[in-house]
Amino acid sequence: MQQLNDVILHPPFNITRASHVVLNVQDLEASKHFYTELIGLVISDENATTVWLRGLEERGHHSLVLRKSSSPSCARIGMRMQTDDDIMRAHDYFLQQGKSARLVDVPWQGLTLHVNDDIGVPLEFCATMEPCERMLKAYHHYHGASAQRLDHYQLQASDVEKAWRFYQPLGFKVSEYTWSELAGEGEHLWGVWLERKGNPHDIVFTNGTGPRLHHFAYTLPDTNDMIRACDVAGALGYAPMLERGPGRHGISGALFIYFRDPDGHRIELFNTHYQHIDPEPAIGWDLADPKRADQWGLPAQNKWFTEATVFEGTPPTAPSLNISPPTLERFLAMANDA
Ligand SMILES: [Fe+2]
Repeated sequence: MQQLNDVILHPPFNITRASHVVLNVQDLEASKHFYTELIGLVISDENATTVWLRGLEERGHHSLVLRKSSSPSCARIGMRMQTDDDIMRAHDYFLQQGKSARLVDVPWQGLTLHVNDDIGVPLEFCATMEPCERMLKAYHHYHGASAQRLDHYQLQASDVEKAWRFYQPLGFKVSEYTWSELAGEGEHLWGVWLERKGNPHDIVFTNGTGPRLHHFAYTLPDTNDMIRACDVAGALGYAPMLERGPGRHGISGALFIYFRDPDGHRIELFNTHYQHIDPEPAIGWDLADPKRADQWGLPAQNKWFTEATVFEGTPPTAPSLNISPPTLERFLAMANDA
């Protein structure tokens, strides 16, 4: 029986980390402006329909791909593997499971594998990517939030347990999780934080209409850059797109802000989380504990829990678990009643 604290020391192939996300956007110029001027990403290449961007410390060609489209969605989330041999082992592994696993050609990437996970999330694996100049010390190019590297994804899933059961056998460790007590039914898994690279998360699943991409996250070099991002947002007219924060999560301990891009895709900018390398028991949080999400400050708005990006070609379904998390609207209603 699969347990949350199981550590798979020898997975069938070696996934190393969250790597790159491919977004469909309606106005390529508007999105390019948002991600370069506010977020501070660097353009690696572009043509009439696609822009490839990377963070300032990233050596790989891209961590964000923007594709012009008539409707916004997420095409794929990408993960890196150690070697091309791992890609081939994964190809065989997924075919043996009866999945539609395909080796595909993708610009700027080496051998690339497309497959959907068990809840329908379109994944893209590669082991190599065209190398670019690391801009870490090119301080004269720092502007906006000065985003450094893509760190993780958070997804909504209609069946969080099913998602966890897919990723854990692939070597993902659970760093933290959220549970909720249902009357007469005991504890239910509401959210799970899974990692491969030795920090709290590469991919997170929380209960909700899914699968949908809730957010993707970039690290910032310093807390001051977070405040600078807010100031730049104000100066560039992006202030209404600052959705949450600054704040401090209980889970992961990250200091965070969240923006919505011109298509409503949600991006987190954060720093200050911890190492998770040793096989340690996962930390559990009660969904009703407000400090799991915010160590201080106000809870997230209701739209935080209801709005997310659909995956191209994967219609989301409502969750079987009907649990409402604490929201700002509920908090204010209770404050008014008091
Ligand atoms: Fe996050």
